Amino acid sequence: MINMKVITTGVKELDEMLAGGIPEGNAVLLAGSCGTGKTILSEEFLFRGAKENQEVGIYISLSESRDKIIQNMEGFGFYETELLEKGLIKILDITEDARLVNLEPLTVNGIINMIASIIRDSGAKRVVIDSITGICNTLGSDRKIREFIFELGMQLGYMDCTTVFISEVPPMTHQYSVYGVEEFIADGVIILGYYEDKGELIRTLQIVKMRGVDHSRKKQIMEITSDGIVLKPMFEELF
Ligand SMILES: Nc1ncnc2c1ncn2[C@@H]1O[C@H](COP(=O)(O)OP(=O)(O)O)[C@@H](O)[C@H]1O
Ligand SMILES: [Mg+2]
Repeated sequence: MINMKVITTGVKELDEMLAGGIPEGNAVLLAGSCGTGKTILSEEFLFRGAKENQEVGIYISLSESRDKIIQNMEGFGFYETELLEKGLIKILDITEDARLVNLEPLTVNGIINMIASIIRDSGAKRVVIDSITGICNTLGSDRKIREFIFELGMQLGYMDCTTVFISEVPPMTHQYSVYGVEEFIADGVIILGYYEDKGELIRTLQIVKMRGVDHSRKKQIMEITSDGIVLKPMFEELF
């Protein structure tokens, strides 16, 4: 596409697969089961954006406390305390925030308004929601969950940010989502998975969809290194 601004993911090989990056403003569903690397990949996306492009990034967590998240991230080369101190990266545990503003039980409007105002007030260009499954689990009924997902998609569409929202799917399935509707609000879908080779789990990444981009559809091997995510072809090219 001509003149389309893209947001680099910060993972060199992933940017190459995306012919540059994620089109600005897209909402991307990052799906995978436990341990596939969703949290680390999305943290790298925020930290690289802040460090390389001075873009404000916000990480909205529903599953882990802020201290725990930072503790797990500290060993990675992309992590810099300074980016948190400068306010370029913000990490929020919204279950705690919800408690603070007495938003329990969580209502669809309550949680949507909270997310929307957090994004607006922070001026974030990059947003990660980890995870949408975590929010849905607190909502209870299927009707409320569907209402929440569609409302979230609409609100994100109004906002000036590029979003990665995480879906925690059961292991060894080809599902993109738990509630079956998350992918409908997504402009892009990236799947993380794994397979077993000689008793070892090998992680994989595949881009299923990315609006506006003629992207690679090849499944890649994904390695988590101390310097962040590295992708490699599954099959060695012979020529
Ligand atoms: N420093 C590291 N080097 C290599 N692998 C790591 C490192 N830190 C964590 N991991 C791997 O990352 C996995 C967790 O990734 P994470 O992004 O939290 O998964 P998910 O969010 O999909 O559940 C761990 O199970 C571990 O195998
Ligand atoms: Mg995670």
